[in-house]
Amino acid sequence: MSTVLRGAARLLADSHVPNPDPDSTALLAHAWGIDASDLARRRLFGDTVPTQVTENFAQLIERRRQRVPLQHLVGSAAFRHLELQVGPGVFVPRPETELLVTEILEELERQQNTQVPFVIDLCSGSGAITLSLATEHPQLAVIGVERETEALNWSLKNLASVHLGDSTVDLVSGDATSFADERPELWGRADVVVTNPPYVPDEAVPRDPEVREHDPAAALYGGSTGLEIPALIMLQAEKLLRPGGFFIMEHSEEQGRAACELIMSTASLRQAVTFPDYTGRDRYTVAHRVSEVDL
Ligand SMILES: C[S@@+](CC[C@H](N)C(=O)[O-])C[C@H]1O[C@@H](n2cnc3c(N)ncnc32)[C@H](O)[C@@H]1O
Repeated sequence: MSTVLRGAARLLADSHVPNPDPDSTALLAHAWGIDASDLARRRLFGDTVPTQVTENFAQLIERRRQRVPLQHLVGSAAFRHLELQVGPGVFVPRPETELLVTEILEELERQQNTQVPFVIDLCSGSGAITLSLATEHPQLAVIGVERETEALNWSLKNLASVHLGDSTVDLVSGDATSFADERPELWGRADVVVTNPPYVPDEAVPRDPEVREHDPAAALYGGSTGLEIPALIMLQAEKLLRPGGFFIMEHSEEQGRAACELIMSTASLRQAVTFPDYTGRDRYTVAHRVSEVDL
């Protein structure tokens, strides 16, 4: 088995695929229909890879060489404690987005709401943020809003496979740039509004083929500066938030300052602060909605 894995990793490395060793291991486990620890055990015992598995594995390695995302090949992406189903038509959730969930859970702790806290996730994609919050908080009401049908369908599949406990989740089809306008009954109701919107500038086509060719364009591009769509979403967020409510938005490492300026230019979002991701780069900005402002 080690020879098979080494050969596959070399093929991936020769095609400049990042992380060739872990990708080969994950793909062999997938081809074999076993998990990583089972694979490690079989490797330790020097098990031989069955012929059919070798053939499936070779096909997967070839597709990975063509830069099909690992998560599409294995059919899932790890996000916090969830294993989310992903594939064509949905944005693969990223590790840095996990930080927003931590931030929200800490904020909810600080808020000490007497009622069940209410969170709105604008641009919910696979449901990564929505479902993590709903499953990690003891009791939460979350609405996830997604415009693209394929992405929404992936999130509905994911919703069906998690255990919500006392939380409730509503995944709805909607446009995050006009959601509040269409749902006036939600004005001033949300304790938290979170968004990981499309924020790549239209001209800044990503270098990695996995992103450029496999993440949906609707998930990536946010307008000429990348912040046109996020700016519209902010205006919806301030309508949805109750006074004192918390806004949190992911953005690129170059957009921290602009995100703060946009927040400060709204009528009711204040105290903008940008935080870094695991690599120390600016990644998300938070703010609070002040009271007594007519929107
Ligand atoms: C960067 S992805 C984030 C997905 C998910 N929240 C996550 O963190 O992995 C952005 C998502 O926003 C969706 N989207 C783009 N424009 C939208 C809009 N105007 N209204 C609602 N969803 C939108 C895309 O289809 C995509 O699923």
